[in-house]
Amino acid sequence: MAQVLDILIYPDKRLREVSRPVSLEEIKDPKFQAFLDDMFATMYASHGVGLAAVQVGVLKRVMTLDCEEEEKRGVHPQVLINPEIIKKEGEIIWKEGCLSCPELVVPMKRFASIKVKALDRKGKEISLEGEELLAVGLQHEIDHMDGKLIVDHLSNLKKKMYRDKLKKNQRVVL
Ligand code: NI
Repeated sequence: MAQVLDILIYPDKRLREVSRPVSLEEIKDPKFQAFLDDMFATMYASHGVGLAAVQVGVLKRVMTLDCEEEEKRGVHPQVLINPEIIKKEGEIIWKEGCLSCPELVVPMKRFASIKVKALDRKGKEISLEGEELLAVGLQHEIDHMDGKLIVDHLSNLKKKMYRDKLKKNQRVVL
């Protein structure tokens, strides 16, 4: 039975770590497969479009993603392991939120369309092309794997205000 994991919340330092690639051997490990199910359970329970493993404290280059509309969620769940952007085009501004940064929306400049290559949950090489939400989601989760967060795009003042707000709401992990 998959379990819902705790999501690390900014400014947790683990969110700043760079995740490491996953080997084929590891992908075949039943424990890793169970972890992927836990990631989906966690992502769906928190109504997220995507989740990177680092957000649950596991420093592996893995993301789960489901960009479908609410009623179609769960139909096309995707796992991307060791994703790499191999094509990028155009520019788009997207107002992004993040499960690790509650109550925050930051307008982010992103590539409008991208192509990513990765391994799926069976270790098979796949490529995925996306625009708009899918393109943004992919870029957002890859950022997580490199320790980057949407808060990095706030001014120092706004960042401080955000941290104060989190403290006030006692959402900081103690
Ligand atoms: Ni996020």
